[in-house]
Order: sequence, then C-alpha cells, then structure tokens
Amino acid sequence: MSEKKIILSGIQPSGAMTLGTYLGALKNWATLADEFDCYYMIVDMHAITARQNPAELRKTQLSQLAQYIACGLDPEQNTLFIQSHVPAHAQLGWVLNCYTMFGELSRMTQFKDKSAKNAENINAGLFTYPALQAADILLYQADLVPVGADQKQHVELTRDIALRFNGIYGDVFKLPEPYIPKIGAKIMDLQSPENKMSKSSIADGGCLLILDKPEDIMRAFKRAVTDSETQVRFDAENKPGISNLIQIYSSCTGKTFEETEAEFSGQGYGTFKQSVGEAVVETLRPIREEALKILADKAYLESVYRLGAEKASRQASRTLRKVYKKIGFIEA
Ligand code: TYM
Repeated sequence: MSEKKIILSGIQPSGAMTLGTYLGALKNWATLADEFDCYYMIVDMHAITARQNPAELRKTQLSQLAQYIACGLDPEQNTLFIQSHVPAHAQLGWVLNCYTMFGELSRMTQFKDKSAKNAENINAGLFTYPALQAADILLYQADLVPVGADQKQHVELTRDIALRFNGIYGDVFKLPEPYIPKIGAKIMDLQSPENKMSKSSIADGGCLLILDKPEDIMRAFKRAVTDSETQVRFDAENKPGISNLIQIYSSCTGKTFEETEAEFSGQGYGTFKQSVGEAVVETLRPIREEALKILADKAYLESVYRLGAEKASRQASRTLRKVYKKIGFIEA
C-alpha cells in the first residue's frame, strides 16, 4: 500500500459548479496530487436529496468530470469517480446511520438551511446525509478533506462518528481533518454578499459558474454590490461586498489582502471591479476551453470514471469488509 497520506473530497452534481466551488475546493485539489493519494468523487447519491431531472443529472455529471480534469486533476494521478459506482458508500452509509445520533444530525446547519429553503421536500435522506458523507470519507481512511468552510461541520461530525465507532470496536477508522484554504473558503453572493454564493442565485447575477462566458463574468462583476465608501479595504462585517471582491481577486492572483488593498489604493470601485472581473476571466478561461474539449470525448470520460470506480472500489471494499466483520456480520 502507498505510504502517502490520503485525500478525499466530493462535489454534488446538483447543478453546474460555481466560482465558489472552484475557489473554495476544486482549485486546491489540483495542487495535491504529488504529495498525496487523492480521491475525488462526483456525489450523485447526495444530489438526490433534492429532486433532480434525470437527464440533467446525467449531463451535469459528465460536465463536472470534464471540469475536474480541466482544473488540473490528471486522472492518472488522481482517482476520479462517481459515488454510486462504488456500492460500499451506500453500504457503509447505512451502518454509520446506526452510529449517528438524531441530535447530532439536527444540529447540522446545512440541514437547517436546506430544509428551511425547501419546506415541501424535507426527506429522510436530507437529514441523514452527513452519515453518508462520513462513509464517503472513512471508507478511504482519508487523512485530509479539502473543502470550503461550510463543510467543516460535516467533517467534524465524521470525526465524532469515527471516534464513537473506534471506541466500541477498536481502531477501524482513521480520524480525518478538514483542509480549508486560507483565502477563498467562503465566497459570497455578488448581489447579496451577506449570503454564501450558491447555485440558487444564478438568475440574478449573484452567482457565477466555472463555465460562464467572459462577457457574462465581466457583466456580473460590474453589477456587483459594494458600499457607499470608495476605499478598497477588507472589512467583512462592514464592507461585505468589497471584502468578497478582495477575496476573489486575491484567490485568483495569489496576492495577499494587503497587496490587493495597496494595488487599488486611491482608485475607485469601478476600476477595482473591472480588474476583479478580468482576473476571474483569465483564471477560468483555460479551464472552460479545456473542459469543453474534454466534454466532446464521451468515450474518454467513460474510461476515466470506470477506471476511477475500479480503483476506489478496491480501497473502499477493504474498509467495508473490516467494518462488517467488527460489527458481527457473517462474510458472504
Ligand atoms: P457542495 O457540493 O455543496 O460544495 C462542493 C465544495 O465547494 C465548496 N463550496 C464553497 N467554497 C467557498 N465558497 C462557496 N461559496 C462555496 N460553495 C461551495 C464546499 O465547501 C465544498 O467543499 N456535502 C458536500 C459534498 C460531499 C463531500 C463528501 C465533501 C459529499 N461527500 C465527502 C467532502 C468529503 C457538499 O454538499 O458540497
């Protein structure tokens, strides 16, 4: 077995991937392959906690895989797979449901947010979702889970579930740590910067997608909400719009907040917004071009997810077998 530490993460194919997903998660994944053994999933099973259009869901997954590769995830170096192709996720997910408490799940902010927004479909899967996410992570004995800030609570719950299980049966699971970027961990909506950027606000220009065209990106930044001052200064509480733009610019250019503030000192918001737009366009342009090329080759994408599922299954079934044995299931 490889000596490298293990990384695992995933993104829901519940719609196109956003600039927030890119800066908070995907951008960092591409830098890890040399140092770590990396597993990245498309979490289709999580996506059905909200109602999906089947044809759209299929399309979105292929597009997401093409974007993973275009963002720099070489399928030779990273295990790229679709969650439902590895049945061990559903199998361990059920087991971990039985080691996860109602009270713990009730405290998950994502559950509270999503059920408030979707009162007509608060299904059991939405509630027990974090137990499936724990299975995703623990199956691979992951050391680190690279995610945006909003997923920290789920990774912490995963640790609690693993600790509880290990406390009963011995050292079965490795305890994972969240791996959150210093800049870009929480990208906010461009129109209402007190809210996280998410797919639900695409229509009003508050949310950008990785595959958006340059002119749409520029238009969204021109219209981005700021404040009544004129100073480009980071102050998340009092200047959420400008602070969000500073975060986006710094994340795309690799500059610190201070460097960004200095660069635009004495210049108006108009110039700054234009520069943020250009930085995002230049960051996403090569990804968009490459993703569209890859997406045209369905046979290649199929070969990638098939190979990924094979590699992932090997690792996952090892952990599942161990768990089944520990809890007293008879080997089939
Ligand atoms: P999801 O699909 O909502 O988001 C995917 C990743 O993108 C990050 N992210 C953001 N980061 C910064 N700013 C934003 N506005 C923003 N929006 C999204 C998220 O933090 C996440 O890292 N439950 C997970 C998927 C999942 C998973 C896993 C993750 C399932 N199993 C196992 C890690 C390990 C989710 O819904 O992410």
